[in-house]
Amino acid sequence: MEQKWIDLSDTLIKAGKYYLPRLTSQLLSSRYDAGCAVIREVPKRTGNRIEAYAALWQAYEERLEDWMEIGTVFVSPAIAGNGVCGEIMREIVALAPADKNLFLVTDVMPVMRAAEELRFVPVTLETFTIPIKLVRELLGPDRKIPESICPHCFSGGRRTFGVPKNGERWFFYRPA
Ligand SMILES: CC(C)(COP(=O)(O)OP(=O)(O)OC[C@H]1O[C@@H](n2cnc3c(N)ncnc32)[C@H](O)[C@@H]1OP(=O)(O)O)[C@@H](O)C(=O)NCCC(=O)NCCS
Repeated sequence: MEQKWIDLSDTLIKAGKYYLPRLTSQLLSSRYDAGCAVIREVPKRTGNRIEAYAALWQAYEERLEDWMEIGTVFVSPAIAGNGVCGEIMREIVALAPADKNLFLVTDVMPVMRAAEELRFVPVTLETFTIPIKLVRELLGPDRKIPESICPHCFSGGRRTFGVPKNGERWFFYRPA
């Protein structure tokens, strides 16, 4: 295993933002070898370093094969703030087969912004009637259902659904 994958795995684990079972160097590199990940890397004297990564992942329930998740979106502090997040998300969407429904879960504004530019819609019980059961099957039992799926505030006695905000976990969906 090349050191760059081991270092990426360490960095992503330390970030504490990602679904842990995906963060082994083997899985991160095998997504790339399978044409299901994009990276940015810089040459170093001791071997390249990966400065950005994003991948397509299967849904938790294998039978949901018409769904794929965009996940593990990472841009290192060394190149952050230059729109790389939007670039790698555009590239990863382009890699996805056209007949797949795509989804992602995030609480970070740059990813939300890029998702909306790529025609993802933020899912609430009001905007899209994706059954919670399906979301559970897509994410698996270890992951929390994003708050956006449930009405998360009350105003004047009525449920309201809000818009994506930094720090709130939202589920985004892009139909095939
Ligand atoms: C979030 C992340 C992917 C953004 O990548 P990026 O290429 O720097 O994104 P952009 O250049 O499009 O946007 C950067 C902007 O977002 C802001 N930003 C970065 N991280 C942020 C965060 N956690 N919350 C809010 N804003 C954030 C920056 O201040 C910058 O603002 P500016 O455009 O006003 O200067 C990258 O910072 C990262 O990997 N962070 C650590 C892990 C993480 O949160 N990953 C996302 C999991 S879904």
